[in-house]
Amino acid sequence: MMTSLVFSLLLLLLLAPAHSWLSLEDWGSGSVAGSIGDFGQCVCNVFLPDTSFPGDRVEHMQTSSTDLAVEIKLQINKVTSVKGQLVVLLSELTNLTARLEILQSGPDKYIKLEFEIIRIELRDFATLVTQLKTSLNISSPAIEELYIEIRNMSLIVDRLESYDRSNLEVIRIEFAKLQKKLEKCQDDREEISNSPIGSCTHGGILRFGRPVISQLNANLNAGFKYGGWGKDSSPLSGSEEMYWYAGSSDLLLSKISLYGDYYKLIMRQALRTNELYEVYKYDYRGSGNNYIVRSNALYYQFNNPFKMAKYNLTSSTVVAEVVPEATNRFSYHYSSNQNLDFAADESGLWVTYATEASNGKLVLGKIDEDLFEVQRVWHTSVFKQSVTNAFMICGVLYATRSVDTQTEEVFYTYDTNTSEENYVSIQFEKFQDLYVYLDYNPADQKLYMYNNGYYVYYNVKFRDA
Ligand SMILES: *[C@@H]1O[C@H](CO)[C@@H](O)[C@H](O)[C@H]1NC(C)=O
Ligand SMILES: *[C@@H]1O[C@H](CO)[C@@H](O)[C@H](O)[C@H]1NC(C)=O
Ligand SMILES: *[C@@H]1O[C@H](CO)[C@@H](O)[C@H](O)[C@H]1NC(C)=O
Ligand SMILES: *[C@@H]1O[C@H](CO)[C@@H](O)[C@H](O)[C@H]1NC(C)=O
Ligand SMILES: *[C@@H]1O[C@H](CO)[C@@H](O)[C@H](O)[C@H]1NC(C)=O
Repeated sequence: MMTSLVFSLLLLLLLAPAHSWLSLEDWGSGSVAGSIGDFGQCVCNVFLPDTSFPGDRVEHMQTSSTDLAVEIKLQINKVTSVKGQLVVLLSELTNLTARLEILQSGPDKYIKLEFEIIRIELRDFATLVTQLKTSLNISSPAIEELYIEIRNMSLIVDRLESYDRSNLEVIRIEFAKLQKKLEKCQDDREEISNSPIGSCTHGGILRFGRPVISQLNANLNAGFKYGGWGKDSSPLSGSEEMYWYAGSSDLLLSKISLYGDYYKLIMRQALRTNELYEVYKYDYRGSGNNYIVRSNALYYQFNNPFKMAKYNLTSSTVVAEVVPEATNRFSYHYSSNQNLDFAADESGLWVTYATEASNGKLVLGKIDEDLFEVQRVWHTSVFKQSVTNAFMICGVLYATRSVDTQTEEVFYTYDTNTSEENYVSIQFEKFQDLYVYLDYNPADQKLYMYNNGYYVYYNVKFRDA
């Protein structure tokens, strides 16, 4: 009885328009009856006059609150799933701590750089955990514990470094696995706010995450400064987890390796390697480091003659076509031979280059993948040699330049939908000064970089539309 009174009063307060508030007199006249209840409490019955009860609005409110309840439940499920993942992470970290301790007691040689990587990764873990904590706005013991674990591990790494011994391959693999798990946590978090994969209902890049340094290249050779890595942006069914890598110490692209999944990449167990060159037989080599893999085909700059090429990774066959007017006189700022830059986004395949007629300014071409020809071109006003690299997202070209040895920035955008160009400043941190490869993958919304022989990637946060 009490509840029904309170509820009805509340409804009236919430729903009755100002001009139709019931006066106390309306309540009176026999529609309110007071009595003493069975347990001596005061019982009050209210009978509302039918005409003044806003039934339709109550119904509307009930529907809205049901929707709200469903929404809240969804959010709670997400939080619960993230919490579950954190528990798994924690046990992984504990395991890793144990392994570190075992290694600590062994007499071996450690490489300084490896510690640097581990330290960066730990810092990334800490950042991710902070972000998780902020975005979920909960204080969870699991998250707090994760913090402590990370801090403990940092201390262990510090101590280990002073030994300056041993080979850290095992730890690197473990870290890579952990990183992948944390990344999944982060993806879940981003999913709550980022636009879905494949969708372009966002307002372009808002910011980049910290650089995630995955690993030294599969050749384990820091001298392999030229190359690229990433995922197929439009994978064949069954190849969704596949990664590719190509690296070398010279400017030529001579082979490309495919890896079944991330762990295989980290463990350097290639599914297959396609050789683009065999003495006296064929020479399909490329140059320029701005190739991509899409629908199981490698799109790259053919070295000789200067053309764009499409190499079928299944049949090992190649098709090469001239890009009308493209010149090989202008390269990006960091490296030579970067004349044709391939990119894939939510809308397909693109190539960026310069022409003599454009005096070295960037020209952007949309490629028809089946016909393998440039369908349409856009002319930008940015000089290619001032650019360090470029990539495409949702039909928008993003060009980067160097700010200093640790910072890079997207400084220019060109929107092919509107032919509008803009000078902007979206900065991101580099692992090392120079890099030759930078491309966005629309299939996971990450930006892949090959930075002085290291696999690096960035999460991309989009602006709300
Ligand atoms: C860590 O986990 C692996 C399996 O994932 C197990 O084989 C190993 O014994 C564990 N190490 C420690 C020190 O707990
Ligand atoms: C986080 O939750 C607290 C209450 O638990 C609230 O006061 C605060 O405004 C929330 N912060 C954000 C950023 O949502
Ligand atoms: C972290 O280190 C402290 C001190 O060495 C230790 O007491 C604590 O149990 C460690 N915590 C975890 C979660 O390993
Ligand atoms: C690559 O070659 C295979 C086998 O010949 C063929 O089935 C596939 O369609 C080709 N892919 C492309 C993108 O041309
Ligand atoms: C811009 O064009 C691309 C195709 O080039 C398309 O996928 C995208 O949805 C367009 N965006 C807008 C805002 O029209």
